[in-house]
Amino acid sequence: MSICSVYIVILLIACLSDAGIEGRKVGVLKKHEEPSSGLAFGFTKSFNTIYDTSRYGIFQLSNALALTPQMGWNSWNFFACNVSEDLIRETADALISTGLADLGYVYVNIDDCWSAASRSSEGQLVPDPDTFPSGITALADYVHAKGLKLGIYSDAGKFTCQVRPGSLFHEVDDSQLFASWGVDYLKYDNCYNLGIDPKERYPPMRDALNATGRSIFYSLCEWGVEDPALWARGVGNSWRTTDDINDTWVSMTTIADLNNKWASYAGPGGWNDPDMLEVGNGGMTYEEYRSHFSIWALMKAPLLIGCDVRNMTAETFEIISNKEVIAVNQDSLGVQGRKVAGEDGCLQVWAGPLSGNRLVVALWNRCSKAATITAKWEDLGLESSTGVSIRDLWQHKDLKESAVTSFSAEVDSHGCHMYIFTPGMAAHSDI
Ligand SMILES: *[C@@H]1O[C@H](CO)[C@@H](O)[C@H](O)[C@H]1NC(C)=O
Ligand SMILES: *[C@@H]1O[C@H](CO)[C@@H](O)[C@H](O)[C@H]1NC(C)=O
Ligand SMILES: *[C@@H]1O[C@H](CO)[C@@H](O)[C@H](O)[C@H]1NC(C)=O
Ligand SMILES: *[C@@H]1O[C@H](CO)[C@@H](O)[C@H](O)[C@H]1NC(C)=O
Repeated sequence: MSICSVYIVILLIACLSDAGIEGRKVGVLKKHEEPSSGLAFGFTKSFNTIYDTSRYGIFQLSNALALTPQMGWNSWNFFACNVSEDLIRETADALISTGLADLGYVYVNIDDCWSAASRSSEGQLVPDPDTFPSGITALADYVHAKGLKLGIYSDAGKFTCQVRPGSLFHEVDDSQLFASWGVDYLKYDNCYNLGIDPKERYPPMRDALNATGRSIFYSLCEWGVEDPALWARGVGNSWRTTDDINDTWVSMTTIADLNNKWASYAGPGGWNDPDMLEVGNGGMTYEEYRSHFSIWALMKAPLLIGCDVRNMTAETFEIISNKEVIAVNQDSLGVQGRKVAGEDGCLQVWAGPLSGNRLVVALWNRCSKAATITAKWEDLGLESSTGVSIRDLWQHKDLKESAVTSFSAEVDSHGCHMYIFTPGMAAHSDI
């Protein structure tokens, strides 16, 4: 266990034992990395401003889940309403046989349309008898036997978006039913909400889930309408920050920018959710999907695959199975990376702190032509004299030379290079 992990464990214990602590008030650098002597590892004083974490409120939900962003699969982006127990079983099989489960994709989440059009005469939700004839318990058993977890969907309204019964005012009954079925995750949508404020509609389900005694990941999906980063840390393990994603470059880039605004609010226990992955669904190019996956990982977004994992191309698999990029997403420091240069242009630098005094750095070309993108040390929060060794996470190799002052690379149109920068490595640097 590294010193850093020990520190995080101590931090968690401290936070669990003192509800009064308001998160990372003193900044990520000081709390996790800065030795008593002052700024080490070549970071500048502006480091904590660039990677502000002051809005992060720790563990108010206290269900001990989401220490890193959730990973898994969800039916909606590819299958929409075409879901069935066969599909869910075959997806679970495919997550195992492809090795994706071993990489961390463990939640198998059914989205809308699993339930019958009305409640039973006793007022209970009922699985659709045509598409889920064996019931959810049998499905949960199947998924659990493979070491995976089962997610389900409901809505903080009168109906779900596809007009199945919603859970508003049925929170206690429905959460008990989900727990009795062995459900591990709830995505909770926002349709037919009767105009009631989400701040009133989402907490009752949190309390009801807690009262079941079963650990159930609580994923809020109020589409960012009431700026959930401002209040949802005490309510859910993740909260959607935007409207639904769709399988286009415009949608993906728009959502990345909107989600970026809330970076200082995210952390272990509660994550900003820019919606599920579209990688593999056909509407973007290979370069664009690589950008999508890189930026989602860097932003500490949930990594929920949204394609048909029973039938992926080699390119799709290569992207979503990149262990080094996944490791950035699942890094124990849990700080959301963000846009640090190129705010108003299409040549952008995104970066974030990682455990072990490292940085993740992405060079993202959103222009229509190939171009050279330069990451300047001052934009990254590095002293200009700092030597940095660089690992390329898509090429899977260490770059030979270490860099000082800045680092540049030629990036294809709509492409994204992703690196880990390790400052102050004497063996690789001249200083
Ligand atoms: C319910 O909440 C309490 C504290 O608020 C927490 O200690 C407990 O672990 C929670 N239980 C579940 C199942 O989430
Ligand atoms: C889902 O079903 C509808 C009609 O039932 C069909 O039009 C659509 O193509 C299906 N989508 C997929 C991804 O199979
Ligand atoms: C996809 O998202 C973009 C950007 O948010 C939006 O303009 C467009 O209307 C959406 N397309 C569909 C088909 O929903
Ligand atoms: C598998 O995906 C390809 C496109 O990549 C598609 O043409 C084919 O119909 C799919 N096969 C099945 C069985 O869904």
